[in-house]
Amino acid sequence: IVVDWDALTAEKGGYDHFMLKEINEQPKAYRDTMRGRLREGLSGVKLTELKVITPEVLREIRNVHIVACGTAYHAGLVGRSLIEHNVNIPVETDVASEYRYRKPIIKPDTLVIVVSQSGETADTLAALREAKRCGASVLAITNVVGSSVAREADDTIVTWAGPEIAVASTKAYTSQLIAFMLFSLYWAEQVESLSQEEIRHQLAAIEALPEQVELILSQEDQLKRVAEDMAKHNSLFFIGRGVDYAVSLEGSLKLKEISYIHSEAYPAGELKHGTLALIEEGVPVIALVTQPALIEKMISNMQEVTARGGRIFAIVDQAHKEQVAKTADEVFVLPTTLAHLSPALSVVPTQLIAYYASLALGHDVDKPRNLAKSVTVE
Ligand code: G6P
Repeated sequence: IVVDWDALTAEKGGYDHFMLKEINEQPKAYRDTMRGRLREGLSGVKLTELKVITPEVLREIRNVHIVACGTAYHAGLVGRSLIEHNVNIPVETDVASEYRYRKPIIKPDTLVIVVSQSGETADTLAALREAKRCGASVLAITNVVGSSVAREADDTIVTWAGPEIAVASTKAYTSQLIAFMLFSLYWAEQVESLSQEEIRHQLAAIEALPEQVELILSQEDQLKRVAEDMAKHNSLFFIGRGVDYAVSLEGSLKLKEISYIHSEAYPAGELKHGTLALIEEGVPVIALVTQPALIEKMISNMQEVTARGGRIFAIVDQAHKEQVAKTADEVFVLPTTLAHLSPALSVVPTQLIAYYASLALGHDVDKPRNLAKSVTVE
């Protein structure tokens, strides 16, 4: 037998690119990030790594600032929704390079959460230092044990995504979402903002996510075909509301980073305030439609697009597929989860669209031009 083998292919676990390998590793990354952190019978969350940010400290916190760069910032936007939803406390999310210079109001009862895959991003680290100087409690969510961010924060929640090699972040982002889900439920228990029953209900939905991602990954053929079609266009748009808007930003960034196709993410309700002028015959629009409470509004925004000849590819939850399919040109159906947990599922098809669009255009998927995996200069 002759086996074709080279070290790099082996490192990629048989995948053509690290990015595709890392997209497919997400179910494992979710499970690893949850491992040991769910109490028996899903009665709550264990975060034994929180030594300084104790339940007593959490009970005194009055506001939260989430600070990060790039994809980690987009995870922070979802983190904001999760904490507001579960803990009922005001949260702001900011990009680190803005936060540092806008003189944020940081007080001792502020919890600053820095999110960083590498734990070495210069702007994020500088924001962390500023937060500490002002006396805030600082929690890090990072993928690298022993990184600068992990060492300097009061406490760290590690995302167990494993090494991420592709410049475009995938499994690190989704593991950050899992970390936010667990942390927000842990905190909810300390301040009794949710009932035991509600916590258990959410944890059961979180535990189901890895298998649901596997189901999405098994449908990549549809996404590949859609991506190849999108790759023929110079520009496209993502729209969504609430956490669907946060995922739109991440999907758009991923596409820009590796396919170099111009793309913009818009809160769907804002389209008519300007961007709608760019929608003409054939322009592709990816609509994220997973929020039951906003479904009618989303459908009317989609109609604004189709009325001008735009073509809609909708990423929709199971319960609304028929309703949405009436307006969209094509739909991709997601497994059912709780509305505020949906980013952990809905982002996956956007990652695969970015990957296959880049591939169709012949770009270097893992090492896009002008970008670095870790940015240690300000
Ligand atoms: C770079 C990477 C992005 C990443 C950002 C923040 O720009 O190319 O993928 O999201 O840095 O990195 P961090 O390691 O702090 O999450």
